Amino acid sequence: MLLSMTAIDKSFGGVRVLTEASLEIEPAEVMALIGQNGAGKSTLIKILTGAYFRDNGDITFEGKQANFQSTAESQTAGIATIYQEINLAQHRSVAENIFLGREPKKFCLVDRNKMCADARAVLTRFKLDIDVERPLEDFGAATRQMVAIARGVTQNARLVIMDEPTSSLDEREVAVLFETIHALKADGVATVFISHRLDELYAICDRITVMRDGRTVAATAMKDISKVELVRTMLGKELTAFTAGAGNRSGNPRETLVEAKNLSAGLRVRDVSLSIGKGEIAGLAGLLGSGRTETARLIYGIDRRDGGTVLVAGKATAYNEPVDAIAAGCGFVSEDRKVEGIVPDMSVRENMTLAILPRLQKSGIVDRAAQKAIVDKYIKALGIKCASPEQPIRELSGGNQQKVLLARWLCMNPRLLIIDEPTRGIDVGAKAEILNLLRSLADDGLSVLMISSELEELIAVADHVTVLSDGRSVAHLSADELSEDRLMTAMAHQSKAVA
Ligand SMILES: Nc1ncnc2c1ncn2[C@@H]1O[C@H](COP(=O)(O)OP(=O)(O)OP(=O)(O)O)[C@@H](O)[C@H]1O
Ligand SMILES: [Mg+2]
Repeated sequence: MLLSMTAIDKSFGGVRVLTEASLEIEPAEVMALIGQNGAGKSTLIKILTGAYFRDNGDITFEGKQANFQSTAESQTAGIATIYQEINLAQHRSVAENIFLGREPKKFCLVDRNKMCADARAVLTRFKLDIDVERPLEDFGAATRQMVAIARGVTQNARLVIMDEPTSSLDEREVAVLFETIHALKADGVATVFISHRLDELYAICDRITVMRDGRTVAATAMKDISKVELVRTMLGKELTAFTAGAGNRSGNPRETLVEAKNLSAGLRVRDVSLSIGKGEIAGLAGLLGSGRTETARLIYGIDRRDGGTVLVAGKATAYNEPVDAIAAGCGFVSEDRKVEGIVPDMSVRENMTLAILPRLQKSGIVDRAAQKAIVDKYIKALGIKCASPEQPIRELSGGNQQKVLLARWLCMNPRLLIIDEPTRGIDVGAKAEILNLLRSLADDGLSVLMISSELEELIAVADHVTVLSDGRSVAHLSADELSEDRLMTAMAHQSKAVA
């Protein structure tokens, strides 16, 4: 046995978070760790690595009692951790980030040339060809995540822990990561893999540990548990299915809210047209690099367009900045929610109502009762797990922080909500609930532009889907034409023709 954690208890300020939780891992084993948002996965990991202290329980690592007093200590002992919140130095270079705290030295000074060369070599293994001397903040979420992973796996660890490593990665990057995990395994290194994407767990993991409400409720070989059984164990009940289908399956035309025609910007968006009706959920599908996020940013006015028109409620818009779009009643929930917009020390209440504070104020005084009503409503509607609305948001689990940010936009009552990957980082149970909520808001008149890589999700809630390929809209599918096959064919179509 490489690692054994038994009967771990942990409370924060009197609130019990872990109760007799356990985790056992053999050398070279790839262990899945799964549970709902707030189940205690990240906390269990932080206790192992010495980021938090446990109240009770035993930990043995490589046959010895382990009581790491700091993350540095667990690292030295052979445990590398890639945390859910990327905790790298954004202003430092990529190379510095990979070797932070263990820089190659020459005559007591950091050997920059060697450090950069080593960093380049490491990243080549991850098929990443970037300028390692540029600051990390210059790169997108996926690249930053890959750098964090590269840092983790180059520490000669016996155990590598990855807390939701794939949430910002695309399919190709996930494939590279899986190769890395296989290579680690071949070297006898074990991995703990935390993810809400069940397919990934089945693809890469040998065994699975399931947590529910701070307890370990199952530990078994991956091949011995079916998906349905797994979800039931994790939720402690059957999965709530999507209760709502798309609202406008009748095909009767609706009043158009947004009409975008022939949008173009640089090479990323060449010719995209789409429309969104009032009360409709319009899907935007496409492979990575097809221009989905870029199209949404053009509509919202985050980026300038070179050509094309956007009409909102019949009026030409020229949003030059997001504030214009916000003033016009449009919200944008970006895919980078984890790093964007959270004010860690502020409470759940404050974080949620940040954007509507002007509206809640009368002669400079916040209407507390109105604020409380809104906060309570969304905590309930999204199933946000927190001790109270006054809890600092940094104390919430990753998935629950995401829900608070989603609520921040929803409580503005926008007429258009653009949402990039709405269920990223959200557990399978809460996912259906969030999609149902979006559907019912649409039925009340909200228009939604939803970008999603999960075809199932689009098929379940979208009234129609625009498929992009290579910066062009190549297909518009109505609700009754939607199927995974048709979407995939449309997504692949144009790129093949071009290649
Ligand atoms: N520092 C803290 N202070 C108070 N409560 C905390 C703290 N850290 C975690 N918690 C609470 O512990 C519970 C478990 O959180 P944890 O982050 O371990 O969940 P998780 O399983 O990783 O969820 P997710 O899938 O959303 O990442 C949550 O209810 C959270 O609010
Ligand atoms: Mg977590």
